[in-house]
Amino acid sequence: MTAVEVGRNWEDKIEVGQRYAVQPAVPSAPSRYRERYHNNGRGIRKIAIGYTLPGLFAEYVIIDPEVVGTSCLVPVPDNGLPHFACALSEPISCVVAAQQHTMHVVKQSPDTPRQAHLGLLPGGTTLVLGAGPMGLWHIEIAMTYEPQTIIVSEPNEARRETARRFFANRAREAGIDLVLTTPDELEYVIEDVTSGRGVDDCIVALGIREIQEKSFDYLGRGGVTNLFGGVKADDCMIQVDARRVHYDSISMVGSSGSDPSDIAEALAMISAGKIQPGNYVAAVGGLDAARDLIEAVRAQEMEGKGVIYPHLSRDLQRVDAWSAEQEQELIGT
Ligand SMILES: NC(=O)c1ccc[n+]([C@@H]2O[C@H](COP(=O)([O-])OP(=O)(O)OC[C@H]3O[C@@H](n4cnc5c(N)ncnc54)[C@H](O)[C@@H]3O)[C@@H](O)[C@H]2O)c1
Repeated sequence: MTAVEVGRNWEDKIEVGQRYAVQPAVPSAPSRYRERYHNNGRGIRKIAIGYTLPGLFAEYVIIDPEVVGTSCLVPVPDNGLPHFACALSEPISCVVAAQQHTMHVVKQSPDTPRQAHLGLLPGGTTLVLGAGPMGLWHIEIAMTYEPQTIIVSEPNEARRETARRFFANRAREAGIDLVLTTPDELEYVIEDVTSGRGVDDCIVALGIREIQEKSFDYLGRGGVTNLFGGVKADDCMIQVDARRVHYDSISMVGSSGSDPSDIAEALAMISAGKIQPGNYVAAVGGLDAARDLIEAVRAQEMEGKGVIYPHLSRDLQRVDAWSAEQEQELIGT
């Protein structure tokens, strides 16, 4: 969004003409319109733009004080960043946050003290289960931790192919072995790639309880599984081998959503070329295409993200990828 007018209480914080990426998950109790919330908002600690706060599909929106007060308008650091990249910083930021929830206890040698390492293990083996849109971002951001190997397990051949197309060259250039496989072959591949040790990091980028449970089996000593996908409330209990936690120090982490700092980090990564958000765009349109986009998502016709430009009037257009130049052309027409 671009600020067009600022209330007098926020003039020192918001600048007219400045572009902001929006963190829609606002870490605040509701201060106004409490009647819109369950139990008059008692106990609620997070509110959202486009749900209970104004926003989402509108050309002009009023930004509420909770949003500004919690720094959920994140200044766009680089004027060259296209609007779509700023919008996609939100889902990307969830992946940034999730990988930073992983923690390894490391030791340089037996006689040096233990240290905490935040994030995936550099030089280790990272396994990503599921190569949907979120799994693809996990692969891309996992590369920034410089693991030795990234194994990706995905049953859908077209999605494995997308992962290969996006990342095979970049992984090779970064000195990372990218291994794409299917759930049927996975155990054999892990055995082979890690010489039987198991992986250091496993990211479960899907919401299936049985696979969350299975993910522990893939871990080597000190390995961490990251339960990124959400499972259904009535099917959410998993069993963990307590002997492996005890003898092999395996552990589990999870997170949901992100903070404004994660949006800022995602924007910085996009700006530095570490994430290429245009790869993930499958449709674009103006405000009047919003309904068609929602219907296409609901019908599962979209292999990627849709971007709505709320200040334009355009039909929904399917694209293979999207770029700053294409965006400029669309806005200019
Ligand atoms: N934690 C967060 O902050 C956060 C944020 C956004 C999304 N999510 C979650 O991320 C998950 C993934 O999102 P998505 O949009 O990529 O979903 P998706 O359904 O498009 O992708 C899941 C992929 O997993 C694959 N799969 C199915 N069975 C498998 C198996 N046995 N082994 C390996 N892969 C298998 C599917 O073929 C599919 O490609 C969802 O559960 C979503 O709720 C979490």
